[in-house]
Amino acid sequence: MIEQNTPSAGHVRLIDLPVVTDPRGDLTFIEGERHVPFPIRRVYYLYNVPVDAERGGHAHRDLEQVVFALSGSFRMKIDDGKTKSEYWLRDPRKGLYINRLIWREMDSFSQGAVCMVLASHPYDENDYFREYDDFIAAVNEGVK
Ligand code: TYD
Repeated sequence: MIEQNTPSAGHVRLIDLPVVTDPRGDLTFIEGERHVPFPIRRVYYLYNVPVDAERGGHAHRDLEQVVFALSGSFRMKIDDGKTKSEYWLRDPRKGLYINRLIWREMDSFSQGAVCMVLASHPYDENDYFREYDDFIAAVNEGVK
């Protein structure tokens, strides 16, 4: 399930999760170090997000995350410091894995969207790059 040779920084990829379909409804499950490539140390979720809200606008020194649209949809704009891309998350069976040194911005939330994030570490404000220039400097220096 977990791909080998994943770069240690500046990398994103979609992860397909298992689904158990049933006439009573679909069931998806996630196990740390099996479906996501790290032990899950924190879970948080965004909800009641205004449709015109913009979230994110930061990168992380060490944190790895997987982001899901559990309900509704939203856009994730991804920037590794050299190349920009975007992902529309709308399928609760697909997560976007984001490793360290990725600038991310989120917008275009649908009404009632729920975004769940699995994270590799507890919350630590010192792990954030909140200034884009600081993030770019870290990418250029190959900072760990
Ligand atoms: P932030 O990560 O900037 O949110 P987003 O990227 O979704 O826009 O966090 C917003 C605020 O919430 C900030 O004050 C830090 C706080 N926070 C925690 O206390 N714990 C957490 O696990 C997270 C993700 C945020």
